Amino acid sequence: MKAVGVRNGKGNADALFIEDGIPDPVPVGNRVLVRIRAFGLNRMDIMQREDRYPYPLLPESGKIMGVEFSGIVEEKGPECSDDFKVGDKVFGLAYGGAYAQKIAVSEKMLMHLPANLAFEEAAGVPETFFTAIQAVHLVGNLQPGQSVLIHAGASGVGQSAIQVAKVGGASQIFTTAGSDEKCQLCRSLGADFAVNYRSGEDFAAVVQRETHGRGVDLIVDLVGRDYFHRNMASAAMDSRMVLVAALSGSKVDDFDLRALLNKRIWLLATTLRTRDADYQGQLRDLFCEKILPHITAQEVRTTVDKVYPWTEVADAHKRLESNVNAGKIICIVEER
Ligand SMILES: NC(=O)c1ccc[n+]([C@@H]2O[C@H](COP(=O)([O-])OP(=O)(O)OC[C@H]3O[C@@H](n4cnc5c(N)ncnc54)[C@H](OP(=O)(O)O)[C@@H]3O)[C@@H](O)[C@H]2O)c1
Repeated sequence: MKAVGVRNGKGNADALFIEDGIPDPVPVGNRVLVRIRAFGLNRMDIMQREDRYPYPLLPESGKIMGVEFSGIVEEKGPECSDDFKVGDKVFGLAYGGAYAQKIAVSEKMLMHLPANLAFEEAAGVPETFFTAIQAVHLVGNLQPGQSVLIHAGASGVGQSAIQVAKVGGASQIFTTAGSDEKCQLCRSLGADFAVNYRSGEDFAAVVQRETHGRGVDLIVDLVGRDYFHRNMASAAMDSRMVLVAALSGSKVDDFDLRALLNKRIWLLATTLRTRDADYQGQLRDLFCEKILPHITAQEVRTTVDKVYPWTEVADAHKRLESNVNAGKIICIVEER
């Protein structure tokens, strides 16, 4: 099969190329072999391309990038259930290997493609929605009637988190984004307050004003260093902050632990790719129960920023690196 390779093992976006003669993956155990039609890009792909991925990768990850895809079931492993059959249209999450014509993944990480979702829409769903469900529910434990602050609201994870919080019954949803257009997008997805951080407006002041000084019950943070002190100021008593990424940096200066003690803030962090297949299967089941019906009913949106043929995967990576995207960047895989 063909797959996206990185010339000399690591490099910038221009080092990406379509490599031929890669052995087909084998669907052992409960794995399903899927012929990929589209894959979604994620920031971790950039780190992997540059050979600076920060966490130890599981052996299942392999060398090929890509953690989410859509496609058609081609073959089933000997231990597979009857959940999927050859010819089914599916989408799913992977530890790696989605930048390719074929992938073999655990059936626990697969889902049936709803009739109203195109391959290029579905390919960008698993990573951000599973992460959002993890941050908002499994780790963040949002209860109906609680308020939430979601940073980088127009990012893939942010957009998903806003909608997951809305469906979960959040009372007030605050978010931050880097332009008025992105803020408008966040509002259209269900955010009650969207702060353009480049306008000079301070999100902590908005949270204080709109919650009458109480603060929010849950913070889903993707930004890290630059927002840490203001996050502490925005947190309510007995609130949780779930760290999902640290886009602005991970070292916080002048951090006084008393900020946590004063308000009994639970500081939590989570990752998705390092989780085992059982945990990811649990997230898949939660997604299928809580969110997929809303996607099928077109009440929850999957925002595709731009679709590229995979021969232009270098341009797709450059767009992701430029931060101009507002939603998922997708590549369509050629069949032969
Ligand atoms: N822990 C996990 O399990 C997990 C899972 C998935 C993703 N992630 C991480 O979550 C982050 C977001 O992923 P994604 O796919 O949703 O990204 P994305 O769709 O590419 O969006 C990222 C956005 O973040 C904003 N941003 C970037 N640098 C920023 C900064 N210094 N301060 C404030 N905002 C900044 C930018 O929008 P603005 O124009 O608004 O600034 C950018 O467009 C990535 O770091 C990714 O690796 C973690």
